[in-house]
Amino acid sequence: MRVLGIETSCDETAVAIVDDGIDMKSNIVASSMRLHVKYGGVVPEIAARSHIEAIIPTLQEAIEQARTSWEEIDAIAVTYGAGLGGSLLIGVLTARTLAITKNKPLIGCNHVLGHIYANFIRKTDLGNYKIVDHNPEFPMLAVVVSGGHTQLALFESHLKYRLLGRTQDDAIGEAFDKVAKILGLPYPGGPSIAEAALKGDGQAFKLPKARVGKYDFSFSGLKTAVLRLAQEQIGESFDFPSYRLPERLNEGQKANIAASFQRIAVETITDKVSVAIDEFNPKSIVLAGGVAANMALRTKLKTIVPCPLIIPDIKLCTDNGAMIAALGGWQIKNHLPLADPYTLDIAPNLTM
Ligand code: KG4
Ligand code: ZN
Repeated sequence: MRVLGIETSCDETAVAIVDDGIDMKSNIVASSMRLHVKYGGVVPEIAARSHIEAIIPTLQEAIEQARTSWEEIDAIAVTYGAGLGGSLLIGVLTARTLAITKNKPLIGCNHVLGHIYANFIRKTDLGNYKIVDHNPEFPMLAVVVSGGHTQLALFESHLKYRLLGRTQDDAIGEAFDKVAKILGLPYPGGPSIAEAALKGDGQAFKLPKARVGKYDFSFSGLKTAVLRLAQEQIGESFDFPSYRLPERLNEGQKANIAASFQRIAVETITDKVSVAIDEFNPKSIVLAGGVAANMALRTKLKTIVPCPLIIPDIKLCTDNGAMIAALGGWQIKNHLPLADPYTLDIAPNLTM
């Protein structure tokens, strides 16, 4: 089963081809990130316009890289939610048109589930990927840490899961991005904070961990605490405007704030994962989403996890088409209903 996956939920126009949900034949990602940097975040209209420009060349490149043709492609998978409405529309309309004109089955995919299924890619002939040839065993605990989602899910088998908890406000990646903005570090904030933190002391400042439900998360209080800390560090009151903080904080203060924030953000995740390990005794744990690229989180998780911990290659942590092509393959394998190419709609607020 050769599936072509299309992912356009945010600022990446991504197309990939994956066989049987595990064997990655191509993976092309065109990002409009550089166009958003000066705004400090993704501008939805710019992202949507970039998808229109990039989608056809990206499709062509993915087919070329896989050395395949439309005749050999068995199905088309596409992210229909969650994500930015205008961005999702381009991918969904492209996939619907292709499904009709090329006469292929259409599979609607949940973006967050796709991040988890990036962990099931176990083979590729493409260079530059470190693929773990590991079959995740069930029950499997999925730890989703991305720019839009933070949640824990327990899988009893493929595609059969229950959500244990989720963030009540900001996602962890969003917190990284917002704290980076407070410190004047470039977008996207995750890698910037991680880099700054290397030069700082994670114990320099005491920041709060949110108290929420057993498996739920909250990051908005932590973000506010960082803002207050930054204002305090330069001897200003809480009404000092945040946009003027970067010019007043020195490099040492920025590094220490970044490191202290990162430590608490990471511990917020690992504390809950520990509780879930004790309660559910999972046979494997998978880490998914853009923040899975964070080395501090990876390192800390490795110290607390008693079973195999599976983390995709960094290039498969952030948004990509391979995770959607992989998920599409597993949905077909597990006989999930197909999408109707004449009616499949976007679902910007789709949850898992
Ligand atoms: O999964 P993703 O590509 O998009 C969503 O589905 O949301 O995640 C993007 C998020 C951004 O918030 C970005 O700052 C964060 O992942 N991120 C990181 C790192 N690399 C990307 N966060 C922390 N450390 C990193 N190294
Ligand atoms: Zn994502």
